[in-house]
Amino acid sequence: MKLTIIGYWLLVGIFLPSYVVQGTHNTPRLVAVPAAPIGDGVDVRKFPSYFAFGAATAAYQIEGGWNEDGKGASVWDTLTHQHPELVVDRANGDVAADSYHRFREDIAALEEVGFSFYRFSISWSRILPEGDLSSLRLAGIQYYNNLINSLLEANITPVVTMLHYDVPQYVQNLGGLASPLFVQYFKIYADTLFRYFGDRVKVWITHNEPWDFCVTGYGSGTEGPLVHAPGVGEYLCAHHVLLSHATVFHLYDEKYRKEQAGSVGITLSGRFFYPANSKTGPDVVDRALQYQLGWFAHPLFSGAGGYPPLMVQEIADHSLRENRTMSRLPEMSDEIKQFIRGSADFLGYNYYSSRLVELDKRDYNESSPPSVEKDTGVLYSVDRSWKRAKSSWLYVVPKGLRGVLNWFKKEYNNPPVLITENGYSDDGQLEDHERIDFYRSHLTQLLDAILIDKCNVFGFTTWSIVDNFEWLRGYSEKFGLYHVNFSSSNRERVPKLSSKFFKTVIQSGTIPT
Ligand code: NOJ
Repeated sequence: MKLTIIGYWLLVGIFLPSYVVQGTHNTPRLVAVPAAPIGDGVDVRKFPSYFAFGAATAAYQIEGGWNEDGKGASVWDTLTHQHPELVVDRANGDVAADSYHRFREDIAALEEVGFSFYRFSISWSRILPEGDLSSLRLAGIQYYNNLINSLLEANITPVVTMLHYDVPQYVQNLGGLASPLFVQYFKIYADTLFRYFGDRVKVWITHNEPWDFCVTGYGSGTEGPLVHAPGVGEYLCAHHVLLSHATVFHLYDEKYRKEQAGSVGITLSGRFFYPANSKTGPDVVDRALQYQLGWFAHPLFSGAGGYPPLMVQEIADHSLRENRTMSRLPEMSDEIKQFIRGSADFLGYNYYSSRLVELDKRDYNESSPPSVEKDTGVLYSVDRSWKRAKSSWLYVVPKGLRGVLNWFKKEYNNPPVLITENGYSDDGQLEDHERIDFYRSHLTQLLDAILIDKCNVFGFTTWSIVDNFEWLRGYSEKFGLYHVNFSSSNRERVPKLSSKFFKTVIQSGTIPT
């Protein structure tokens, strides 16, 4: 953060190739298309024949084996070990669902439901604990080879997230996502993944939910890696997310795409917004969307590229008022804009909840240090009729999913979208009727978005196949379609009713009433 602006761009410039390749929107195939399509018409309430259903997990949340076979620590190992008081019950992911030893049980569960793909993440520090090839761990490579091969044997397509919050601590010590060095390290990591697994993995997701981990990890500093630099850190983090993503996309184009013929996307998270009162206009809703989803999606998927103009202008203005000599939002040159724009074959999207918004009328100079929330300038609330899941933030608003999908269609010319997560938290009961209701209502909105609004969505991923470590909430909130008994050493997976619900959805292509 002490780098001068020239030093910063020199560093970034060294790592970026000088030419520009545009995205191809190479939509992945996640399901074998049957010879006779199962109802593509509006009159038939069925998912299209090309539509795929899968389930997701993330390495730190399920694997355990935190220091086995030469694995290094990630920022989440560090957080849970050095600050157990931050996590409910002082829990950690040292063993979690023990998928490092029990991944075959996860695959059996996926098979039983009938999912056609599995979205899992690779633990960077399991294969490159010091971030680059000097520390290559073949045992880590072997673990993921076994997982990938077993999935393929079960006819399940692997969808791999490269980074799901668990940055190697070694890379964090060099600045993590606040440093331009991150781009180079991430490129080496991705190159290693393409080289070892790209013959069999055809769908890649570079980053998971950068809004969340940049804001909580580098802004408020309340989650891993606990960097408290609000108003500056989250923007630097986001900038390096975009640069590293685009760098990896172009690497794939240059070195692997021809031979491996896969796709590279990114997973964003974000809520939909509704006006809190009659004085709140559509511009306020749009402002909230731009500062959340647009922050990442505009540079990648818009015609013009670059950050949303509203953010560029307002953050520069706020920075000036704070007597800064440059904007807290890093500048994007035209060359960098072109480098990032179009560098995604698909848009991965995690939908969980929505909020009401109204303009924050307080004078900007009045109070509080800068932050992305303050820059956004809106106040959030919830509708009293919205039911809440176990998680304090998870208000159930199914129509918001259709809202966001239509916003993507309007803003970014209907890009191919894969819903990479959607799910409901509870205490872990096997008869999880509320989870079934949640999925039924969200799938109904999704189907409307596809059949009526013609949104370009090609797959849906449940979070999660098994109960797992829910970050600062530890094991107190459960999202799985399969129950895991975390107090038993064999971590047995037991199907919940919701897993049967999905079995019917997948078999019939419809939503059971
Ligand atoms: C999104 C995150 O990607 C995942 O790690 C988390 O467990 C779920 N949301 C539920 O909070």
